[in-house]
Amino acid sequence: MDRQRGLSVRLKLTLSYAGFLLLAGVVLLAVVGVFLLLSGWLRTNESGAVRANPVIEFVRAFAPTAAVVMVFLLVFGLLGGWLLAGRMLAPLDRITHATRTAAAGSLSHRIRMPGRQDEFRELADAFDMMLARLEAHVAEQQRFAANASHELRTPLAISKTLIDVARADPHHDTGELIDRLHVVNTRATDLIEALLLLSRASQRSFTREHVDLSLVAEEAAETLHPLAEKNGVTLETSGDIAPTRGSPALLLQLITNLVHNAIVHNLPERGTVRVHTGVRPKTAVLTVENTGEQLTPQLVTTLTEPFQRGTVRIHTDQAGAGLGLAIVKTITEAHDGTLTLTPRSAGGLRITVELPAPARTPTGSE
Ligand SMILES: Nc1ncnc2c1ncn2[C@@H]1O[C@H](COP(=O)(O)OP(=O)(O)OP(=O)(O)O)[C@@H](O)[C@H]1O
Ligand SMILES: [Mg+2]
Repeated sequence: MDRQRGLSVRLKLTLSYAGFLLLAGVVLLAVVGVFLLLSGWLRTNESGAVRANPVIEFVRAFAPTAAVVMVFLLVFGLLGGWLLAGRMLAPLDRITHATRTAAAGSLSHRIRMPGRQDEFRELADAFDMMLARLEAHVAEQQRFAANASHELRTPLAISKTLIDVARADPHHDTGELIDRLHVVNTRATDLIEALLLLSRASQRSFTREHVDLSLVAEEAAETLHPLAEKNGVTLETSGDIAPTRGSPALLLQLITNLVHNAIVHNLPERGTVRVHTGVRPKTAVLTVENTGEQLTPQLVTTLTEPFQRGTVRIHTDQAGAGLGLAIVKTITEAHDGTLTLTPRSAGGLRITVELPAPARTPTGSE
């Protein structure tokens, strides 16, 4: 932004210091002058001597000294003010320098203001904190873009290899080629759908409606029942109505992802999945719990990151992108809820989603 250049703060402070010093000097000299004048006048009256004009005489004697004092105060005020203001404003230079560095793209720079807590230190600390958060956010975005590109390149590379091999061999079975290309293509489309969903959920641009999580859980369980059967997993749903506000489509996606995970990341046989819904004082709660292999708490904290796959899948035909839990986390946060992952001591995972209950009106209904 182009702005007209004004006086520097240092100069303004210097002028104010000097101005105040001069003002104080004038007041002091005036008081001393009046005092001297009065006492001189009294003495003259007492002695009874007659003088031409005591005021003029006094001014003549006092003025040169007063002028010297005023000049001294002016020089002292300007010089002292300039030095003092420079000292006071020095931290601001550091902050400005750091801001310029950050604006030029270097987010790793920190002010690290030394000294005790004061207003400048507070500003510098707040700025450092903002830079740290921005840096982490940008790094996360870069990681995400790199991972997404990598994941999208894989199916394209596989397709290319399949086509190259088929082209080199004139007696190639086209039916098989088409089938394999279809599988690869579907995976790529699913991946892009998941990425679009992730971006849509994080924009929070959906309309909020009344949603009962227990009904959505039933719907998800019904859809995934055949998959559970195929994987030899028993799927149970239980619980009470759990009202909240949000996007029915996104919440269905959330529960579907959780139940899907609970089925495919389960024991090779005789696994169980329990889906439970309920209410707490101010929230609606959904819990999805499944048997499976033992997971360490450290591993569990990383699972919600995009493209993070924990362990090798038991049913390898359902290889995923590692976006399911990232989508769950984004949808939960877009609904102002919390997501908690806890490893079960007997193996497997318990995932709890808490969403705000709808605000109640005085009539008791929503
Ligand atoms: N219910 C669960 N029980 C055990 N492990 C789980 C469970 N849910 C997720 N995981 C682990 O977390 C990882 C990440 O899950 P996520 O849903 O994000 O990706 P994915 O299931 O591998 O792929 P996608 O969901 O994109 O098809 C999984 O690979 C799995 O190792
Ligand atoms: Mg998944």
